[in-house]
Amino acid sequence: MTDQTKTWIEKDKKQLHPTYHPKNHANPLVIERGEGVWLYTTDGQKILDGMAGLWNVNAGYGREELAKAAYEQMKMMSFTSNFAGMTNLPSIQLAEKLAGFAYEGLNTTHFTSGGSEANDSAFKTARYYWKRKGKPGKYKVIARKGAYHGVTLAGTFATGLEKYHTMFGPKVEGFVHIPAPNPYRYEGTLKDGETAGQAAARELEEAILREGADTVAAFIAEPVMGVGGVIVPPADYFPLVRAICDKYEVLFISDEVITGFGRTGEWFALKHWNVKPDILSFAKAITSGYAQLGGIQISDEIRETMESAADTEAYMHGFTYSGHAMACAVGLKNIEIMEREEFPKRARELGNRLLDGLKTLIEFPFVGDVRGLGLVCGVEIVSDKETKTADPARTMQIFKAAQERGLRTRPLGSTLAFAPPLSITEAEVDEIIKRLGAAMDSVR
Ligand SMILES: Cc1ncc(COP(=O)(O)O)c(C=O)c1O
Repeated sequence: MTDQTKTWIEKDKKQLHPTYHPKNHANPLVIERGEGVWLYTTDGQKILDGMAGLWNVNAGYGREELAKAAYEQMKMMSFTSNFAGMTNLPSIQLAEKLAGFAYEGLNTTHFTSGGSEANDSAFKTARYYWKRKGKPGKYKVIARKGAYHGVTLAGTFATGLEKYHTMFGPKVEGFVHIPAPNPYRYEGTLKDGETAGQAAARELEEAILREGADTVAAFIAEPVMGVGGVIVPPADYFPLVRAICDKYEVLFISDEVITGFGRTGEWFALKHWNVKPDILSFAKAITSGYAQLGGIQISDEIRETMESAADTEAYMHGFTYSGHAMACAVGLKNIEIMEREEFPKRARELGNRLLDGLKTLIEFPFVGDVRGLGLVCGVEIVSDKETKTADPARTMQIFKAAQERGLRTRPLGSTLAFAPPLSITEAEVDEIIKRLGAAMDSVR
């Protein structure tokens, strides 16, 4: 570490940018360099990034091609407005690439800088759509308990995690939460013979009827819940959800900020269940974290309805950085890499290897459940396997022990999450299992 770096680290201790609580930032790892799945700190540690940053660095670190794409575009023209009759070539090219890429019939993209803005855009678009359809009373959004949809004010209250709400009330009106189809610990009521998928879908129908279908604009769900503990839904859930949304004229928003771009073994995750959303939110892996970019895609029917608005009712929405030229150029190049290296296939194959490896850890008395889809997996830690009592304290101990062994995971309540870069090798997957096993041994 150079003296200059040491000086910067000392300055950082003065809480120059304390994301997100000063105490949590008291002694941060300062990352200097990344290569593939590996991170290197200023004090000489080498860490296997089992979380691909924040579930986003799908292509791995240090890709020169992406750096060049950013450089070339910035040299040529870094930014133009996408408003008032202007646009730029990379945003047109990326939107063209994305048309129908995730789901057939979703051909129109509105760009944002990230996932929270994408979800906010999705909610506003749903409200706008229903107003255009002559149903202005449809404004509510039904979401699931445990969901994470970002930190804008709307994203915060669409999120179904209480701790994200308590500091920021009063609650924004119009967000309703129902149980998620968690096969390991379903928190709703199972009526005779129902699967968790059927019960959770029934909860959606009941919520729509309770609120009044004429007040509900949309339902939002992450196909695989991320921050809420890596919850993989049962196969019957999303087809039922789609049918219920159709029955009551409720738009289905798929929040694929984590699951998009190959992570689960399909380019987009609802494909696993042959289901299509009306609105798709994406961000993170579209650039593998090399630039800030997100967006929504809307169905042709929504676009046509929006286009039918009178000039005086124009869609007053969009961000300074919607369609940022450099970010879009990086997104295009990143998709080219993901296609060339067959990321969905890698996620399927290496995800199976990771899941099989993690399942061997079920031998530990405190490993209650191991689950995953493609390269997003969760290991749930419990104090009693019979009662499935969550054990966040031990989860944190294992997280720290793994960190000491050069493995980065993420503690989410009582679940340790794994979502490594999709460029990970077989040997590196095995390294995750080995290091996690050693960490668990040390806290046994
Ligand atoms: C499912 C989901 N939606 C939305 C977001 C918010 O995205 P961002 O942090 O880019 O605003 C996240 C972030 O982790 C997420 O996991």
